Amino acid sequence: MLRGVEMKNLPCIDNAWLAIEDGFIAAFGSMNDFNGIEDWRDLTVIDAAGKFVLPGWCDSHTHTVFAASRAEEFVDRLNGMTYEQIAQRGGGILNSAMKLSRMSEEELFLAAFERLNQLMHSGTVAVEIKSGYGLDEENELKMLRVIKRLKAEHPLTIKSTFLALHAIPIEYKDNVEDFVDLMVVQVLPKVANEGLADFVDAFCEEGYFSVAQMNRLIEAAQALGIPAKVHVNQFNIIGGVQAAVDRNARSVDHLEELNDNDVEVLLGGNTMPVALPACSFFLRIPYTPARKIIDAGLPLALATDFNPGSSPSGNMNFVNSLGCIQQRMLPSEVVNASTLNGAYAMDVHSELGSITVGKKASFIITKPLNSLAEMFYYFGDNNIDQVIVNGELVHSKAN
Ligand code: NIG
Ligand code: FE
Repeated sequence: MLRGVEMKNLPCIDNAWLAIEDGFIAAFGSMNDFNGIEDWRDLTVIDAAGKFVLPGWCDSHTHTVFAASRAEEFVDRLNGMTYEQIAQRGGGILNSAMKLSRMSEEELFLAAFERLNQLMHSGTVAVEIKSGYGLDEENELKMLRVIKRLKAEHPLTIKSTFLALHAIPIEYKDNVEDFVDLMVVQVLPKVANEGLADFVDAFCEEGYFSVAQMNRLIEAAQALGIPAKVHVNQFNIIGGVQAAVDRNARSVDHLEELNDNDVEVLLGGNTMPVALPACSFFLRIPYTPARKIIDAGLPLALATDFNPGSSPSGNMNFVNSLGCIQQRMLPSEVVNASTLNGAYAMDVHSELGSITVGKKASFIITKPLNSLAEMFYYFGDNNIDQVIVNGELVHSKAN
């Protein structure tokens, strides 16, 4: 992972060549010392003159498997309600859970597969996907099996997270501990047994799950060899960062609220802070203080939080523009946050996240640009000409 001032450093080769073999990066270098290839006949050549070749985006936080849009709540919010008020009246995550319980595994799979195609066309090459709209054993397992099938059938690199503690179902309103028991004691071992999760997650927040409840989940999962990535500090600071870092969580995500003590705690650990600026944009809540985090010497990753309630976009290009525009990150910092650090946050950094010999050949080729800054400056435009995943051209402007 890259921390602090290292995040500004994005090694770049002008006028470069790069060779892909069997889906992996075989070699690269400058055209100045390119010795030529004797036999070009079987090679596919892509001319990227005037363009940037970047590692593909690694989106380490999404809820890509979901039933349907929540555009009706979007309108409620435009009429003045807040995300929290909508949740309190049984909307929000509970609304998504109700819709999801009525859908079959096959329907969920097909909808998510299509969403992944869209993400891939916008330059994403690796994606973490959470459960959490099941809220009972049957539907959580259903979601996780959908993610397992996506891993097997979709070209993107996918990691799966069992979001065991996402919202409190109405029937557990007065006995939340029973719900935590259900997820931790009954469902988690089954998830582990079926090999359905790379990570576990909890929404640690006022009105959702306490630090103690999150800790129970993290510790039980750790005993089964499953690390945690958690939702903390979205609306309130209740001690989630300290608890997660103490328990060696892979990442702490959201952090729209972050105090000096949290920064100190993060400096003492190996947990990746993850900012989700599209969620801040959509909910009109504060942006994660990226400058405070990076200037303190910490690493930072950016992710979309793609979900129907707080970020109905999985477009990393928009996230990256928000990183620059709203969080005052430099273009090079944004690239590192969305590639190598994102890859670390989902534990795929040994195979993706940088242009390194031996890693998967998964890239973005931009449109012709005068500078890397233009990639994020022209926000809302599609600045990508081609996307290559595992050596295959999966998106081309010409087609
Ligand atoms: O990361 N904060 C909790 N979970 C999601 C929102 C899920 C939803 O509203 O459906 C998030 O923002
Ligand atoms: Fe989320």
